[in-house]
Amino acid sequence: MTARDFIPPVYTTNVEKGSVTWESPSNIALVKYWGKKQDQIPENPSISFTLNHCKTMTTLEFSKKGDLEHFEFEVYLDGEKKDDFKPKIQTFLERVEVYLPFLKQYRFIIKTENTFPHSSGIASSASGMSALALCLMSVEKQLINSDVIISAVEEDLDDEYFNQKASFLARLGSGSACRSIEGDLIVWGKTKSIEGSTDLFGIKYPYKVHENFKEYQDTILLVDKGEKQVSSTVGHNLMHNHPYAQIRFEQAHQNLESLKGILESGDLDAFNAIVESEALTLHAMMMTSMPYFILMKPNTLEIINKIWEFRQKTGLHISFTLDAGANVHVLYPNKESQEILQFIQSELVAYCQNGHYICDQIGFGANQIQF
Ligand code: DP6
Repeated sequence: MTARDFIPPVYTTNVEKGSVTWESPSNIALVKYWGKKQDQIPENPSISFTLNHCKTMTTLEFSKKGDLEHFEFEVYLDGEKKDDFKPKIQTFLERVEVYLPFLKQYRFIIKTENTFPHSSGIASSASGMSALALCLMSVEKQLINSDVIISAVEEDLDDEYFNQKASFLARLGSGSACRSIEGDLIVWGKTKSIEGSTDLFGIKYPYKVHENFKEYQDTILLVDKGEKQVSSTVGHNLMHNHPYAQIRFEQAHQNLESLKGILESGDLDAFNAIVESEALTLHAMMMTSMPYFILMKPNTLEIINKIWEFRQKTGLHISFTLDAGANVHVLYPNKESQEILQFIQSELVAYCQNGHYICDQIGFGANQIQF
C-alpha cells in the first residue's frame, strides 16, 4: 500500500451540510516513537496500549461555501473559541487536502472537549487529531456513499479502509494519533517481526496476546500539569544528528521483537523491563541531545523509586512508563489491581500536583457518536 491509495475516487453525492461526532481515546506507547522523517514518517516502529477513559469528543459541523480557494474553519474547546488551535489544524488540513479534496468546499465548525482536564499535562494531540480525522472520514463517506447495497464482505473491507485511512490522516496531524483509532494494542512503523506493519498507519497487533495483558491498568499520576516544556515537533527534531540516534532506532526494532514473545507468554517481569527501559531511553535521548532537556521532575524520580521498592518487597508486577513530560503512567495487570491501587493511593498520590491522578485501562478504540 502507498499513500496514493488514499486519494479517493471522484465524489458522487452532493451533501449541502451536516454534522458528525466521534469520540477517540488517547494511547500510551510501550515502545516509543521518537524521531521522524518528512511527512510524519517515523524513524522507528512503536507499539501502544489504547486507553479507555482519556478521550476527546469532537463534533464537526460542515456546510457548503462558495469560495474554493481557502480553508475556512473555527475551533471551540469546551464551548470557548480557540484561535490558538488554528495554526496546527491549518497545517493538518494542508497536509491532508490531497487525500480529502472536499476540504475547501466546506466551512467547518470543530467543537471539541476532553474527558481529562486540558491543563493536566496529558497530551491531547493523539485523541484530538484522531477524533478530527475520523470526523473528516465520516464526511467523506457521505460524499462517496452510493445507495447500492453491498455484501457483508465488502462492508468489512469498507470498514478496514475507513480505519486505515483515518489512521493515515491522523498520523499527518500527530504521529501518535494514528495509534488511537482502534485497540487494544496498536503497532505503527514498519518492522520485520510484525507482519503488515507500515509507516503509513497503525495496525492492530496481529499475534496472540496472553490473558495477563487483558484489561491492563494505567493509572496516570499528574506530577506536573503545566504546558509541555518541549513541543513534540521540537523533541522529534532533536533526534536529527543525535549521536545515539541510529542505535536507538535499531533498539526499538529489537524491543518490539522481544515484546512479541513476551506478549504471547505473559512474562510480566520481562514486559516491565522493556517498558521501563523504553521510558528511560526516551528521556535519555532528551538529556543527551543538543540542546538538552530534563523533563522529569523530582517527584517523577520519587515515584519511580517507590515503585521499584514496592515491587521488590511484594513481587507484584507494577511498572511505569513516561511520555515526553513529568507525569508517570503506572502500569499493572488487572488481577493485581486491588493491592497496587491501594499502594498508589497511600504512597504515590502525595507526589501528584494537588493529589490529582486518573485511573485508566486498556481500551478498544474510537466510537462514532452521531452519524
Ligand atoms: C513521547 O505524536 O506527539 O509520546 O508527530 O510531532 O505530533 P508529533 O509527535 P507526537 O509524539 C509522541 C511521542 C511520545 C512517544 C509515543 O507516543 O510513541
